[in-house]
Amino acid sequence: MNRRVLLKTMPKGKLKASDFEMDSAPMPRIKPGQVLLKTLYLSLDAASRVYMQGVTYRDAIVKDHVMTGLALARVLDSLDPDLTPGDVVEAETGWQEYAVMPARKVTKRQGGAPLHRLMSAAGISGRTAYVGMTRICRPAPGETVVVSAAAGGVGMVAGQLAKLAGARVVGIAGGQAKCRWLLTDLGFDAAIDYKSEDVGAALAQACPNGIDAYFDNVGGEMFEAVLFKMRDYGRIACCGVLSHYDSPSPGPGVMGVPGLFVAKRLQVQGFIVSDFVQDRAAIDQKLDLLLSTGKLKDRVDILNGIDQAPAGLVGMLAGNNTGKRLIRVDPDII
Ligand SMILES: NC(=O)c1ccc[n+]([C@@H]2O[C@H](COP(=O)([O-])OP(=O)(O)OC[C@H]3O[C@@H](n4cnc5c(N)ncnc54)[C@H](OP(=O)(O)O)[C@@H]3O)[C@@H](O)[C@H]2O)c1
Repeated sequence: MNRRVLLKTMPKGKLKASDFEMDSAPMPRIKPGQVLLKTLYLSLDAASRVYMQGVTYRDAIVKDHVMTGLALARVLDSLDPDLTPGDVVEAETGWQEYAVMPARKVTKRQGGAPLHRLMSAAGISGRTAYVGMTRICRPAPGETVVVSAAAGGVGMVAGQLAKLAGARVVGIAGGQAKCRWLLTDLGFDAAIDYKSEDVGAALAQACPNGIDAYFDNVGGEMFEAVLFKMRDYGRIACCGVLSHYDSPSPGPGVMGVPGLFVAKRLQVQGFIVSDFVQDRAAIDQKLDLLLSTGKLKDRVDILNGIDQAPAGLVGMLAGNNTGKRLIRVDPDII
């Protein structure tokens, strides 16, 4: 049997673990051009909450279906010449132990020691950070870069990439423990605990010469606080809007838009990592190299068992994770 997690109730307010239900279905069978996959790790992604709000840049998540999600999986059976049993792949399997997928929707992955790195800093999170930081923020040595949700899966890599480019990096995260980790383990120059500090005042202190680039994972009031401290010709990479995901409607709008964009000659660009599919292999390889040479650190926050996925996502939206949150679906995988 195939154990799966279904989204049973479309959340109206905050997402709850009880909006999901465990279910068992017969093992899926493959046809020509398809592969049978065994899920090793599920990537929990904060953005999956926003896909429940309707159509975005991708299809909406629908009720009574297997919850959408990206996985690292092993090929168990293949009716496609390019994939062989034993191959490790990345695929949008959804939250289930086994999945049949068209081979063309599956990406073969190599390297990864430990394997979970392929879902974290050398996978979707690292790739997202890489695109936003190197293509949009483009930090130069000595510049000041701010990263929000800095202790999460994407943020931790974004900040480290800015450090590697020679920038001064200021991370914003929720809680003293996360801020300490950014400073002591990841080498950030300053960290702001937005849950206990006034972000505007803390930014003024941490960025006395202003902000050259901002990697924005949060939007809302945090975006506004950063906006007023941006230097002329600054760059803002809009990666996500965490402050709006887990609520029935977006919070109040950002003041000073677009006036401040004009006055400060800002470049503000949103991006979707999947648009960079042609660069994906090269980016993954660069990140893997940075990790294996110790220049980049990874941190995973792993929960065991597919039944932990609902509470894991709910907790992540509340800030319970440090680093990339994953679900270990196959108990035999390290
Ligand atoms: N553009 C793309 O292609 C792309 C691809 C992947 C991910 N993303 C974006 O990357 C960002 C990070 O996603 P992730 O999956 O790696 O999650 P994550 O950062 O590992 O986890 C989510 C974090 O969000 C923070 N958070 C929750 N509510 C918040 C609020 N109201 N204000 C500030 N912070 C809040 C929490 O940390 P604290 O304890 O610090 O609050 C929590 O740990 C998201 O914005 C996501 O949409 C974008």
